[in-house]
Amino acid sequence: MKKTIIAALTIAIIASCTQPATNTVASPDGSLKVTVDAVDGNLCYNVVKDNDTIIRNSRLGFELMGGNVLGTHTEVLSIERSSANTEWETVWGEQRVIKDKHNAAVFHTAWLDIEVKVFDDGFGFRYIFPESLGIISIRNELTEFCFASEDHTAWWLPESVPYYESYGNHTAFDEIDCAHTPFTITGADGRFYTIHEAAVLDFAKMNLIPESKSALKADLVKWSDGTAVYVSDTRVSPWRTIIVSGTTGGLIESRLMLNLNEPCKIEDTSWIKPGKYVGIWWILHKFLYTWYYDANNPEGHGATTERTKRYIDFAADNNFSGVLVEGWNLGWNGDWMANSGGFSFTKAYPDYDFDGIMKYAASKGVQMIIHNETGANTENYFAQIDDAYALYQSYGMHYVKTGNVNVLMDGKEAHDGQYGVNKLHEIVEKAAQYQICIDEHEPCIPSGVCRTWPNLMTGEAIRGQEHDAWEVDGGNTPEHTTVAPFLRGLAGPMDFTFGTFDFSNPANPQCRTRTTIAKQLAEYVVIYSPLQMANDDPAAYEGVKAFDFIRDVPTDWEQTKVLDAVIGDYIVTARQERGGSDWFLGAITDENARSLRVPLSFLGKGKWLAQIYADAADASYEDNPTAVDYSEREVSAKDVLELKLATSGGTAIRFIKK
Ligand code: NOJ
Ligand code: CA
Repeated sequence: MKKTIIAALTIAIIASCTQPATNTVASPDGSLKVTVDAVDGNLCYNVVKDNDTIIRNSRLGFELMGGNVLGTHTEVLSIERSSANTEWETVWGEQRVIKDKHNAAVFHTAWLDIEVKVFDDGFGFRYIFPESLGIISIRNELTEFCFASEDHTAWWLPESVPYYESYGNHTAFDEIDCAHTPFTITGADGRFYTIHEAAVLDFAKMNLIPESKSALKADLVKWSDGTAVYVSDTRVSPWRTIIVSGTTGGLIESRLMLNLNEPCKIEDTSWIKPGKYVGIWWILHKFLYTWYYDANNPEGHGATTERTKRYIDFAADNNFSGVLVEGWNLGWNGDWMANSGGFSFTKAYPDYDFDGIMKYAASKGVQMIIHNETGANTENYFAQIDDAYALYQSYGMHYVKTGNVNVLMDGKEAHDGQYGVNKLHEIVEKAAQYQICIDEHEPCIPSGVCRTWPNLMTGEAIRGQEHDAWEVDGGNTPEHTTVAPFLRGLAGPMDFTFGTFDFSNPANPQCRTRTTIAKQLAEYVVIYSPLQMANDDPAAYEGVKAFDFIRDVPTDWEQTKVLDAVIGDYIVTARQERGGSDWFLGAITDENARSLRVPLSFLGKGKWLAQIYADAADASYEDNPTAVDYSEREVSAKDVLELKLATSGGTAIRFIKK
């Protein structure tokens, strides 16, 4: 007995000793190994998976504005090791309980420390800037990602398109100019990798530029003065993360990014509730009504008291939690992007009875999702934010949709540079003070900060469904939503806003939603967000059986399983309702019709009633998008369903425990 205690103590001491035999951190299952060491004086890391080198020696460090370099002429002086095996519960999410099992180490060098955490499904590392460095200005991050093969290809979003609103490209590394993360690699070795970040706070976002056919380098978004980051109070960089998976689905099922964010800082989270919403929004994007009020044509204005109450009634009748209203407030007349300082966040147009609507919504148990388009003018927004949020809170309202349209914030800085990151985050913390949840449009792409601040509920940073209303290329491609879960989706919830049932678009007939209705339904399962919109005019849903699925589908999940997916072709996702037993399945395809065999082994024991919304035999996104067949059948975990998806079609299923 004594011997065992002594042995255990010895192991613990060796584990925390400052000079271990190797500079390697292995994952708990031993399959993934990250080594940090100086190579010819340059700080580097390499990665081995199942005995294959998957990342060759890759540089670590920074070049400072004065020309000094952190991470060169250096060596690892000491290592502090630790490990964790815990679990934590999400306030909302794709999975209720998340395991955090990893081994970690901090590698100390003379001027820079590297902290590494290795999980079974990937790893993250970040830089710690010792206080002794004082305030520093970073010009360039030297971090490289040198993969082992020249034959890997990548799915990536081009940095050149504003607000991340682009399709994913699929190319070799050397065909990339500058890419956003998440950056997803389909490996020539049969593995899938996603490079991203966790906890981007008080730092610039990291983009990727190619160095060769197999290597990428970090490229930080810069301030207008050319500096990348001023390191002052915050002494850590965001985590640089890589998921390593044998399957496409493993990328989506990984919780690496959330595990690398700090636990929730909001004590009482009872007011943070997932839900579904309708809104005065799609009719604006279809140019049927306007955001602005014109006294000469009051009928043209979208956000009227009468219409808003109609949407509130619809939400209440159909168990939706919220109603979004855009164009209710002063400031939309004329060129609002140029005159963004003209927005008021408390004063309404004359045909919008703000007080009456807030009270009406409250009386019906409906939350108003109050739109605050700032035009990326933070000065004007922060001058009003306390008054505005206090006003909304006084009616018991907990949701604001922010917008930051203008490619530069305050006419000067990028949304995803350190300035933008800090301003956008300040809004989230301010909102928490007033118990307000944020749906953030034109944001910095997320990085899991919603674990720490779960009032940051969802956001855009996606080529969402609004593009189907007015985009010159005719609307989103059928392929787009089969790629999005593997790029933007790996950064967190997406406010994509599907739900189109009426495919007409009189103001822009060359443009429309290019899916079937069944695919629209399935997207509620495939594309994750705790706040999901049903974008169409409520009139479009009246008497349509398919709407039952939107009404029934939850937005908060116990667990999530990606059953099958080929990026850019199709994806089948199953999710179990949080706090319930029902499962929901969504399968979607690109422009190709296809049959998919789906084993139902994810269902627990017993019999289930499957309510199936499928493309009708003659459905197609081009000629017959509205043809949905509804059927019911009894199934069990032993069954295999054969799903038949039309061109840009889908299948949506609810499984009810019998
Ligand atoms: C772009 C947002 O993404 C959209 O949802 C909003 O309606 C407009 N900006 C106006 O703020
Ligand atoms: Ca395809």
